[in-house]
Amino acid sequence: MANQSVPLGHDVAAMNASGWSVVQAAARSAEQLADTNQPAFFALGVDGELRTVPSGDAHALVAWRPGAGWEAVLPEDDPRRAFIDLYLPICSATTARPLTIGHLGESLDGFIATHAGESRWVTGEQNMLHMHRLRALSDAVVVGAGTIAADDPQLTTRLVPGPNPLRVVLDPGRRLGAAHRVFTDDAAETLYVCARSLTRAGERYVGRATIVGVDERGDGIDAADVMRLLRARGCTRVFVEGGGVTVSMFLEAKLLDRLHLAIAPLFIGDGRPAIRIQPRVALGNCPRPHYRVFRMGGDVLFDCDFSSRDEAAGEQSDAQSAVTRVI
Ligand SMILES: NC(=O)c1ccc[n+]([C@@H]2O[C@H](COP(=O)([O-])OP(=O)(O)OC[C@H]3O[C@@H](n4cnc5c(N)ncnc54)[C@H](OP(=O)(O)O)[C@@H]3O)[C@@H](O)[C@H]2O)c1
Repeated sequence: MANQSVPLGHDVAAMNASGWSVVQAAARSAEQLADTNQPAFFALGVDGELRTVPSGDAHALVAWRPGAGWEAVLPEDDPRRAFIDLYLPICSATTARPLTIGHLGESLDGFIATHAGESRWVTGEQNMLHMHRLRALSDAVVVGAGTIAADDPQLTTRLVPGPNPLRVVLDPGRRLGAAHRVFTDDAAETLYVCARSLTRAGERYVGRATIVGVDERGDGIDAADVMRLLRARGCTRVFVEGGGVTVSMFLEAKLLDRLHLAIAPLFIGDGRPAIRIQPRVALGNCPRPHYRVFRMGGDVLFDCDFSSRDEAAGEQSDAQSAVTRVI
């Protein structure tokens, strides 16, 4: 497939803002469209919501396909196409077909932070905006205790228009103090997940965050228990934002439908690793997901698709065309 790039002189910010309106409207409409079970084509109305147009209409931007979800139908040379295309798989998630997506920004040698925990900034500004968009499209954002300890993040969508997700902190060993921002601010609701044995009878909160005790399995908690908890709370789209230990745990448990890996052009040498899964002895046994490739500022984003679960051992999935696009 041909490479696609943003035409010179195009206002990237305005283009992305317009694309983001389409993406948000698509995400809001998915549940209702899944119920109707009818294919339909849509343009963007002046009110920022999608409006139905006839098949083949020149203003059509996206189409809903029953059973498959959203598809971009705007012209290949429309500068918003790559942007919209990137987010549509997330917008297609519904209660009946929920989605869990992970993301990591890593160096060329596979690290997400230095040994000291410094990770600002491995990837660039465009990737930071992308993470805020992933938060805005998600019902819940999940991070590990190591990320809270190192970064004290707010986990909000303050860089883009869109709602804040439920914040979920995984701290099996209950090592975090209560002063972190996710426990003290009122920007969004926070769940603090730790081993049940470390909670006291009647204890409900750490700061403003609600404590949830889960059963201990092996030497920690089970990612599947966390997912059951979140789905039971109505979280259709779940974003696992980091760090490497946490994203790897969800990947190893086959709970990720997609994984975004943003590769930044720097070498860290050693530090906090990105993905670590059980080593395979033979290359033929290594997972080879379907993938798409996007340029994102100075970084390159791999959008790995695990949803079909058909990354059969030894099958080379790169018979598909890698699509390189500029955002
Ligand atoms: N580039 C990116 O995309 C990105 C994204 C997120 C975070 N980060 C960076 O990644 C690093 C964190 O990732 P990670 O893989 O190490 O961990 P993580 O996945 O965020 O959290 C899980 C780990 O945190 C440990 N932990 C728990 N409490 C801690 C505490 N108080 N202090 C330090 N560690 C604690 C846990 O150890 P126990 O099981 O022993 O309790 C567990 O091993 C940070 O440096 C963060 O800045 C980068």
